[in-house]
Amino acid sequence: MLKGKHIILGITGSIAAYKSAVLCRLLVSAGAEVKVVMTPLAKQFITPLTMATLSKNPILVDFFNPENGEWNSHVSLGEWADCYLIAPATANTMAKMASGVADNLLLTTYLSARCKVAIAPAMDLDMYRHASTQRNMTQLRADGVHIIEPQSGELASGLVGKGRMAEPQDIVREVEAMFDEKKKSLQGKHFLVTAGATIEPIDPVRFISNHSSGKMGYAVAEALAQRGAKVSLVSGRTALGVPVGVERIDVLSAEQMYEACCRLWAEVDGAIMCAAVADYTPAVVADQKIKKGEDDMSIALKRTHDIAATLGENKGSRLLVGFAMETENEMANAESKLQRKNMDFIVLNSLRQEGAGFRGDTNVVSLIDSESRVDLPLMSKREVADRIVDKMESVLVEKN
Ligand code: CTP
Repeated sequence: MLKGKHIILGITGSIAAYKSAVLCRLLVSAGAEVKVVMTPLAKQFITPLTMATLSKNPILVDFFNPENGEWNSHVSLGEWADCYLIAPATANTMAKMASGVADNLLLTTYLSARCKVAIAPAMDLDMYRHASTQRNMTQLRADGVHIIEPQSGELASGLVGKGRMAEPQDIVREVEAMFDEKKKSLQGKHFLVTAGATIEPIDPVRFISNHSSGKMGYAVAEALAQRGAKVSLVSGRTALGVPVGVERIDVLSAEQMYEACCRLWAEVDGAIMCAAVADYTPAVVADQKIKKGEDDMSIALKRTHDIAATLGENKGSRLLVGFAMETENEMANAESKLQRKNMDFIVLNSLRQEGAGFRGDTNVVSLIDSESRVDLPLMSKREVADRIVDKMESVLVEKN
């Protein structure tokens, strides 16, 4: 798979850089041509001589060779590569990548790279789970960077947790998969994903909405697109960027989301309903800003369409997956929604669980179908998305 492929191996200043030697060797043995770019700090962790010998190419650290002034062009390096693999990637480098900082050759090469980019993060567990690192990872994924998840285990600090760089052979496997079009298991399929919060106007300045950030739905859209599916993401209000390969249809109200979903339903192979849709909307939207008076006021609300239930009524052979966000009687409520809306399975999200819910980057969910319930541990929303898509794939196999 990697024979003849041009791979830039970027190494940053982490203790895990010692594994980059084995990684480089494995890539070369698999037939790849490897050029190594190191940050200045990375040289403290592994010697350029080691990496130059293993890659059979001189190491690139500076913008020019201080001996003879020869220019190390990040642009031509970026054009040369079929894949840019940064392993290990420190929290610092990830933060710079996420915000476009380009203060060393490794980063300028990233900004110039037109090829596939993969990073293997390595850091201490607290740095890894810190909100800013998770936010940067979300941004990098949205920018099309493939993240090779770190593993849990003993870390260089002596602490035990998630943050250890993936093993070199696993990294090579993931890089091979990036080149393997056959791994695009959902190629030819088209899915509708709803995400985010709807907005129900009261008057020209006020509205009713909810806390949904859209992160879970966007992660599902990204996971589907990465497996080769065509994805139409009907999105309520969020602050998120559109994942690579996803078509986004922006809507505001539950009614607009309903109309967009009904239009798309005829074209798709299935839908994953992640949006937090308002169940009620003001019966009348005032033309002008409502002025306050002396008395209390109340707003008459009318029911919105239940989008998932509407799609479920006319499901045919399509796949329908929903979410149930509950604060009490979780299981009973989720099972009732599963049946009522004619879904293939439902993802139960309990707001009572720590690490689950609206704004964070992690979630704790259970996947429930008519016969079974699988409780997943706390994981990133992107990992949850992959597990949901895995289950979708097995349901699709059963349906065929
Ligand atoms: N849903 C929808 N249209 C609505 C309401 C919900 O498509 N008008 C979808 C959600 O996207 C989710 C599932 O239905 O996949 C369950 O949503 P949830 O808000 O948990 O349940 P509701 O059906 O609204 O019931 P309740 O508010 O009573 O919990």
